[in-house]
Amino acid sequence: MCGIVGYIGKRNSLPIIIEGLKRLEYRGYDSAGVSIINDKDEIISFKQAGKVNKLEEALDVDKFQGNIGIGHTRWATHGVPNDTNAHPHYDMDKNIMIVHNGIIENYKLIKNRLIEEKYTFTTDTDTEILANLINYHHKNTNDFETAVRLALLEVEGTYGIACLCAKEPDKILVARKGSPLMLGIGNEEILVASDASAIINHTKNVIYLEDGEMAALERGSFHLKTIEDKDIYRNIEVLDFLLDDIEKGGYDHFMLKEICEQPDTIQNTYRGRINFETGVAKLGGLDSIAEKLFKAKRIIITACGTAWHAGLVGEYMLEHYCRIPVEVEYASEFRYRRPIISTDDVVILISQSGETADTLAALREAKKFGATTIGIVNVIGSTIAREVDAGTYVHAGAEIGVASTKAFTCQVMSLALITLMIANEKKTVSHHDLIKLAKELKQIPEKIARMVGMKDSYKEVAMKFKDAKNFLYLGRGFNFPVALEGALKLKEISYIHAEGYPAAEMKHGPIALIDENMPVVFIAPKDRTYDKIISSIMEVKARNGVIIAIASEGDDNINSYSDFVLRVPKTAALFAPIINIIPLQFLSYYIAAARGCNVDQPRNLAKSVTVE
Ligand code: F6R
Repeated sequence: MCGIVGYIGKRNSLPIIIEGLKRLEYRGYDSAGVSIINDKDEIISFKQAGKVNKLEEALDVDKFQGNIGIGHTRWATHGVPNDTNAHPHYDMDKNIMIVHNGIIENYKLIKNRLIEEKYTFTTDTDTEILANLINYHHKNTNDFETAVRLALLEVEGTYGIACLCAKEPDKILVARKGSPLMLGIGNEEILVASDASAIINHTKNVIYLEDGEMAALERGSFHLKTIEDKDIYRNIEVLDFLLDDIEKGGYDHFMLKEICEQPDTIQNTYRGRINFETGVAKLGGLDSIAEKLFKAKRIIITACGTAWHAGLVGEYMLEHYCRIPVEVEYASEFRYRRPIISTDDVVILISQSGETADTLAALREAKKFGATTIGIVNVIGSTIAREVDAGTYVHAGAEIGVASTKAFTCQVMSLALITLMIANEKKTVSHHDLIKLAKELKQIPEKIARMVGMKDSYKEVAMKFKDAKNFLYLGRGFNFPVALEGALKLKEISYIHAEGYPAAEMKHGPIALIDENMPVVFIAPKDRTYDKIISSIMEVKARNGVIIAIASEGDDNINSYSDFVLRVPKTAALFAPIINIIPLQFLSYYIAAARGCNVDQPRNLAKSVTVE
């Protein structure tokens, strides 16, 4: 949520910052801005509403020369997305320039105090208040680093910041609490960014800042400390992905690329983690808490959005195959309803980014009660990954499209592996059936590849619905969460209103919406709910609804009930959500693309929601 990038070194900083901002834009894209320290040691700045491309076009490149600079791409929290509220922000005296991710919760209190000190403000942002607070402390201490530290000690809320000081024009100060920030250590140059994609083109050597830490960056050197002023020494970590991983690679959109990558990403999730001869799964990252997991009286899964849908699939899996009671909670609700958590509970946190504020807060709440916490996370080194007791990376690779696709299927695959691991230990699935499931698991990449090969048939159907106003998605059992996820994908990128329901619940309300203008997507593979789903289809048909069926290959019976059929390969219930979501991802992608929507950066959304 919002992107920060900064550079200090010997090269001209502007192109590096602009390139970084473009890579970070998926995190927020309401407005963007840069500040550079020029060769006269002045801070020059330019910012405006709109995307980074627009900023780049409008910038006077000849003027913006200098080898220290910071930039920001914004997802608005305080103040509408306009030129004024765009970052960077100056203090009243134009001494401190700051970019900020997060929310200053006690901004009103600080603002009132500063007003008493005769400070004035020109924007609606909490960030400008922080800039003025730093300036206030700078006036008293005459030391940039101390001023930032003292200001941050007063701040409640979250921040990832990078700031410049006109009176000390040879450094960048950065700090983090609740909003990710990392340093990229190059050859006589240091970069700072809120995520690795902005750095990877320049260096793979990184240092992750922890909450409550800050760093002073100078040309070719840096030092880390806590905001309480204790020095810190930390090893450099090496990023293990390539620039290619975060480029579009010939696809029109990242989302399409990421959908098509799933045969590989799914394989990356299970590679080395399952023995196909014995059907035994083993996740090394869970070794330290495996006993707790096997003995858990209850598993709570908590997450947000798409990851929450993966969690719902996990509930079906773990209860069905392992016979452990599971509860699935929206992370945003979890701690606000005084959850009853015991030390016998295992809490699983699912998050692509590993930075979602509500999921992180739920993790901390669970730890407070002494539960064992497990992370299912994609972004390596992210906060949730670092704070859980144990975890497993899903290895989906960088997911840039704001709508989550490959991360979802990899999250579900990770849950399937955990299910197989527990089922083996608790003997809730026979040896014979475990081997069968493992054999089926091995075929999943090939089955997804087949669907990727059929994408034009999905596109053909999508084209018929590009002008639809509403959609219903219905599924049962393991496919109920798939219905929710299919509806979410469509609404977030095409802005078509879509709802997902358990198919049988349709009769308790949504059926009132059915008429000849209502497309209804039924997830209707040949499984044990098939006959019931056919009954629901008939009920919609009887009311002139338009039926789009997600149906198993070879199921000709369904043709007579459906207006359109999207084919999926047959698989075991455990893996059905991974298979059945694929045509729904394509359907939403092609509908949104046909409507001319910005598929990778849908309005109002951000990739990583680091505010509560
Ligand atoms: C939807 C989507 C969001 C995220 C949610 C959680 O396509 O991407 O609903 O799933 O914001 O994000 P993570 O998984 O990063 O915690």
